[in-house]
Amino acid sequence: MASPADTGKRRITVLGTGYLGTAHAACLASLGFEVLGVDVSAARIAALSRGELPFHEPGLGSLLRTGLASGRLSFSTSYPYAAAFGDVHFVCVGTPQRAGCYAADLSQLTGCIDALGPLLNRPCLVAGKSTVPVGTAADLAARLARLSPAGPACELAWNPEFLREGHAVADTLRPDRIVAGVPSARAEAILRGVYADPIRAGAPFLATDLATAELVKVAANAFLATKISFINAMAEVCEAAHADVMMLSEALGHDPRIGRAALRPGLGFGGGCLPKDIRAFMARAGELGVEPAVSFLREVDDINLRRRARMVDLARELAGGSFAGRNIGVLGVAFKPGSDDIRDSPALDVAATIHGLGASVRLFDPVAMSQARRAHPELSFADSAIEAVTGADVTLLLTEWQEFREADPEKLGAAVARRNIVDGRNALDAGRWRAAGWHYRALGRPLGHAGK
Ligand SMILES: NC(=O)c1ccc[n+]([C@@H]2O[C@H](COP(=O)([O-])OP(=O)(O)OC[C@H]3O[C@@H](n4cnc5c(N)ncnc54)[C@H](O)[C@@H]3O)[C@@H](O)[C@H]2O)c1
Repeated sequence: MASPADTGKRRITVLGTGYLGTAHAACLASLGFEVLGVDVSAARIAALSRGELPFHEPGLGSLLRTGLASGRLSFSTSYPYAAAFGDVHFVCVGTPQRAGCYAADLSQLTGCIDALGPLLNRPCLVAGKSTVPVGTAADLAARLARLSPAGPACELAWNPEFLREGHAVADTLRPDRIVAGVPSARAEAILRGVYADPIRAGAPFLATDLATAELVKVAANAFLATKISFINAMAEVCEAAHADVMMLSEALGHDPRIGRAALRPGLGFGGGCLPKDIRAFMARAGELGVEPAVSFLREVDDINLRRRARMVDLARELAGGSFAGRNIGVLGVAFKPGSDDIRDSPALDVAATIHGLGASVRLFDPVAMSQARRAHPELSFADSAIEAVTGADVTLLLTEWQEFREADPEKLGAAVARRNIVDGRNALDAGRWRAAGWHYRALGRPLGHAGK
């Protein structure tokens, strides 16, 4: 078999094997690269080496196992091994919100560069993929230059990632664009080589400076969050004006300048990216002296959080004005369908708040149960949607999994104590649920609307 050098394929390491890193590693192995995934978590590396995906991501488990079986994909906790292995090192570690403030916690990134840098004694490219505040890449490049024995032969690029959880495999193999912040023509050529297949398939490759590449990702997330909060702000107005935000959204979406994507009103955004990324953007803009440029993101964040409060209020209204002694059945825990990610999940936030207000809350999610159990041992969990709503005074749809969208209102109705439902995602056919005798409420819609 030809070696990677013979085929012109460089050997790749992926540092940090979370949602992003595991998808990146398995997809590059499927494209024919030899890939080593590295993580500081020995348990995670052991699971991945056994072909066990530590989280839910459609299609990724089989890609992982195919990669392992082909011998092109392997995992390790060893940085010396990684440094010796890789020609290109993709950095995919986490950049969570720092405790007590809006700024990003960059300690995983600096930890990674500090561990890798001193071991780099031959030419290579370090390519950051994590989402970072603008300016981080330049700081890390200087840090790497200080640490690396290979000196200028070891360069740092920034190649932000746009994959969506739930679609990680398709988004990685067929990205809608590839953005590369590159310090040199050599670095650009290396990244063009890594992404040769998607580029050949038509993905635009945009080479930029480091700062622009970092900002593209943050700006994209800020725009998405703003669009979601815009329609949710309209939902607030619709609630006050007895108008229907679903019709409003549909009518807006027909305007090609606006578009339908990210315009579905509901419980708002959560997860491990949008909330912390817009907050880190505000913090960084403050440091750069341009705080007013993104101060609207504070409102975007506030609108988003107000939807959760509104959901709790609607549930309480249907519970008869108080949660004390009430049973609440919750459908959905993950921050969105297609994922088991519960980081900053609006669903879990609402469920925990209602529990704190005295209700007995029972939850079900098709894939996120074990994560939720670990994070919220005080809540009670069911093995099915029917079990979650059995005896419920109010049912809440908080994550719009297909199985909940298709749920039979008669079947669920036979299990509940009272046919009260709040559709937190505007995902159900209101007419069908009302026809089955349910008192149906949804965010941003008038009491007696008839439509879908
Ligand atoms: N999850 C997504 O959909 C997504 C999409 C685009 C961008 N991003 C960005 O990608 C980054 C990673 O996100 P994620 O969701 O995969 O995070 P994650 O928390 O799931 O994974 C991070 C991994 O890095 C490991 N790690 C920490 N320090 C390390 C070190 N020094 N060396 C090696 N491994 C280390 C952790 O153990 C963990 O497994 C973040 O910046 C995020 O904003 C994520």
